Amino acid sequence: MKDLLHKKSLEKDDIIALLSANEEDSRKLFERSAEIKEKYVGNKVYFRGLIEFSNICGKNCYYCGIRAGNANVERYNLTDQEILDAARFAYENRYASVVLQSGELANETFISRIEYLLSEIKKLSNNELGITLSVGEQTEETYRRWFSAGAHRYLLRIESTNRSLFEGIHPQNENHSFDTRMKSLYSLKKTGYQVGTGVMIGLPFQTLEDLADDLLFIREFDTDMVGMGPYIEHPDTPLFEYNHLLLPQRERLQLAFKMIAVLRIMMKDINIAAATALQAIDPMGREKAIKLGANIIMPNITPGKYRNSYKLYENKPCTDENPDDCTNCLEARISMTGNTIGYNEWGDSKHFKLKKNKQKDDR
Ligand code: 5AD
Ligand code: SF4
Ligand code: FES
Repeated sequence: MKDLLHKKSLEKDDIIALLSANEEDSRKLFERSAEIKEKYVGNKVYFRGLIEFSNICGKNCYYCGIRAGNANVERYNLTDQEILDAARFAYENRYASVVLQSGELANETFISRIEYLLSEIKKLSNNELGITLSVGEQTEETYRRWFSAGAHRYLLRIESTNRSLFEGIHPQNENHSFDTRMKSLYSLKKTGYQVGTGVMIGLPFQTLEDLADDLLFIREFDTDMVGMGPYIEHPDTPLFEYNHLLLPQRERLQLAFKMIAVLRIMMKDINIAAATALQAIDPMGREKAIKLGANIIMPNITPGKYRNSYKLYENKPCTDENPDDCTNCLEARISMTGNTIGYNEWGDSKHFKLKKNKQKDDR
């Protein structure tokens, strides 16, 4: 174990061994990843205020509670004013960055609306707020338009790098293609975004080998930011049918912690988010993730009345709270972990900055 934890570069078998660690070895793994976090990114956590601005989605992913086919969801779309007010809240509370997330649409109205919102958020914040988008697969042209309008980070999870698993958890049509997802990730990178990707952990039919491949992909893609969390069943989705195949939630959570720890060891200077889904299983899930390697948290700043309708999975936390509640709550929680909050700092991935500087030097 000790050798593995100090090995220069982890290979697939090493990763599988680490992901299979028993309780005692897991403790050693978490100690090592915490040590690396402290050394390379410091004990500082950055906020990204999350605005879930609409749950209207054109897609039908089998795992997701807001899929188009779920008729039990009350659909909403925040007004421009509500979105801008949420961004102003983030700015005034020194968050430094916001994330605009919604279901996936790709029509011109949607595209130009986002373009408009990006420029308005830049204006209301003196050009200071950093803006991340998380609105799915789009054409390279669209990614470019949004980049020009002020977005500089983009989150798009690959969900699973095992093509057949990916195909198993999505409908078989061109709207849900593994190749398009992969291509979108490369377009984002080419456009100049800091790109975030990630996977769901503990999906039915997923093996440790799959998860090891996921981590290897994240390294090979030279990812700047990662968000990954446990898969959590939702009763109104087709994947619920395979519930009996799932690991118990506690074990899925442990596996998610191991994934975060191994990734921190593999990629020492990237940004890793403590995903909200961790908290759906354990009230202290995100704090535990921060202790062992994560350094980003996404406080929900969606206006309270809409939160209940953005349920991607069961037990999603903070659905009865308001933005102020989450801010106060998180301050207390983060100080408990021995970390500080990087108020008013973008907290870009060090990995991305080093890469950019290197590109300049090479020119
Ligand atoms: N459990 C956990 N994560 C989920 N997501 C969607 N549905 C679920 C679920 N049931 C994640 C996906 C998506 C992100 C926005 O939310 O990984 O990329
Ligand atoms: Fe839509 Fe995203 Fe849910 Fe898929 S995961 S159904 S694209 S919101
Ligand atoms: Fe939302 Fe604690 S983070 S209430």
